[in-house]
Amino acid sequence: MKCSPANCVALTLLLTCGAVTAQDFGYEGQHGPEHWGEDYKRCSGKHQSPINIDVVNVVEKQFPTLEFINFDEKPKGIRLTNNGHTVLVKMDFEPGKTPRVRGGPLDARSANTDYQFEQFHFHWGANNTVGSEDLINNQSYPAELHVVMRSLQYKDFASALGQDHGVAVMAFFFRVKGNDNPNYNEFTHLLSSIATKDKSANFVAPLPLEKFLTSDLVNYYTYVGSLTTPPCSEEVVWIDFSNPIDISEDQIERFRHLTANDQHLMNNFRPIQPLNDRTVYQNLLPMTPYGEMPMSSIPFVDAANGVVEVTTSSKLLLLCLLLLKAGILVAFN
Ligand SMILES: *[C@@H]1O[C@H](CO)[C@@H](O)[C@H](O)[C@H]1NC(C)=O
Ligand SMILES: *[C@@H]1O[C@H](CO)[C@@H](O)[C@H](O)[C@H]1NC(C)=O
Ligand SMILES: [Zn+2]
Repeated sequence: MKCSPANCVALTLLLTCGAVTAQDFGYEGQHGPEHWGEDYKRCSGKHQSPINIDVVNVVEKQFPTLEFINFDEKPKGIRLTNNGHTVLVKMDFEPGKTPRVRGGPLDARSANTDYQFEQFHFHWGANNTVGSEDLINNQSYPAELHVVMRSLQYKDFASALGQDHGVAVMAFFFRVKGNDNPNYNEFTHLLSSIATKDKSANFVAPLPLEKFLTSDLVNYYTYVGSLTTPPCSEEVVWIDFSNPIDISEDQIERFRHLTANDQHLMNNFRPIQPLNDRTVYQNLLPMTPYGEMPMSSIPFVDAANGVVEVTTSSKLLLLCLLLLKAGILVAFN
């Protein structure tokens, strides 16, 4: 092809620009987080995620109870995909059985709106010193799980994006412990079959969503932020659970063996963004050792009587069994 020097420059620029636009975002170099704002304006917003949660600066607040619906439903299928940025997990449920959540900080703008499960995915580091997106007191966790939920006020995920409280993300940190987490066994083994970009794999024995989370779903921090990947849409309600999920070194290592574009897929976390004028809240629990029940309704004496009652009733049961055996109860009828 013939072209004058000026035309050549223009043509080269055009081709390069085309290539840049077509190319996906990344986590380093010219497609790294510092450049996301060039292609996606929202990424330069003032209410972005992730953030550092400085625990001394959080505001304690007693939120309504967070209600989890269908989190114990076994899905028909679970599909993992290496999409080049993360392991994306989709679950397929019987009609009406898709997990939903409501209450807690989700009630702030729209009371009684359910948020429906969309997908979950992960962010992790090259080693255990980095990986999570949000930080607690400037500390990273080695990985973070994001469970993405969409407000049912919107017909689909795309229309919920960027709407006030349209999307909620439940975030769970990972902590490396000695033993394998049995709930992550099939998941981490399947990772070897999605080693390269665009590969997918299906669970043989699908587990309910709750099995991938922590059991403590009442201790959390919450704030309003954004998606942590382009398009970085804001007005996302973040719920960061304080108690991490335990996973073994071997299990987390399997994430680091994934690849995308001839590179290991790791360090797929965005650096922390300024908090600006936002407040981070910590859910304040009622001060009782019995969860939701007010202390006054469980006097110590009653608890002691309870023990006596159990003993009495088990003696009665034993007596009945003895009577039955002797055929006396039959005789009474
Ligand atoms: C952990 O990984 C990060 C990111 O790749 C790197 O900067 C850091 O030096 C590593 N730390 C250790 C202890 O290997
Ligand atoms: C976190 O880091 C910031 C900036 O380096 C510092 O001002 C702040 O005191 C640190 N917070 C904690 C809890 O260490
Ligand atoms: Zn995420």
